[in-house]
Amino acid sequence: MISLVVAHDEQRAIGYKGWMPWNLPEDLKCFKQITLHQKIVMGRVTFSSLKKPLADRFTYVVTKKKDYKVPYDNVCVVEDFIALLEEYKKKEEILFVCGGALIYEQALPYVDEMWISLVDGKHSADTYFPAYNKEEFNIESKQKKDGFTLLHYVRK
Ligand SMILES: NC(=O)c1ccc[n+]([C@@H]2O[C@H](COP(=O)([O-])OP(=O)(O)OC[C@H]3O[C@@H](n4cnc5c(N)ncnc54)[C@H](OP(=O)(O)O)[C@@H]3O)[C@@H](O)[C@H]2O)c1
Repeated sequence: MISLVVAHDEQRAIGYKGWMPWNLPEDLKCFKQITLHQKIVMGRVTFSSLKKPLADRFTYVVTKKKDYKVPYDNVCVVEDFIALLEEYKKKEEILFVCGGALIYEQALPYVDEMWISLVDGKHSADTYFPAYNKEEFNIESKQKKDGFTLLHYVRK
């Protein structure tokens, strides 16, 4: 099963100068709750922006760089992202797709559910979540939080 977790604003902005365009501690808390003890996947650019791998999660880092090495036991480097998506699509175990933009774009056709933090307002940004068709999803839950609304979409 493929799940996607993202925080985007009203214009689908997700990133600015290599980080998120906002400071929303409660969103980070939600992200942690959703992904803790799970398998997650992220692009090499997003992974490189972290000081170290996210604790208590197993991370797949996607890159085309043949010589890319990561010195952590809980991180696995993968070259073929589509093969990884196809593998987890068939499994009951969930793979959480955690960005950034290039990764979200390729994962979107595969996702079974999405956890979207819809951030209030519009922000300066240089990276955007791809356009998606909300009609393909049911809203399972909607929770207003401080600065954003947490939406759980499940594919119809
Ligand atoms: N708001 C949010 O929820 C959220 C979440 C995550 C990230 N972000 C933001 O998004 C931005 C980064 O996004 P980004 O799009 O620039 O980068 P990214 O998606 O994190 O990483 C892109 C890299 O992933 C690798 N890659 C992508 N597709 C691949 C494939 N099919 N096979 C093999 N490797 C592949 C390539 O690495 P190589 O170049 O090494 O080959 C590519 O350069 C940052 O600003 C970050 O803060 C926001």
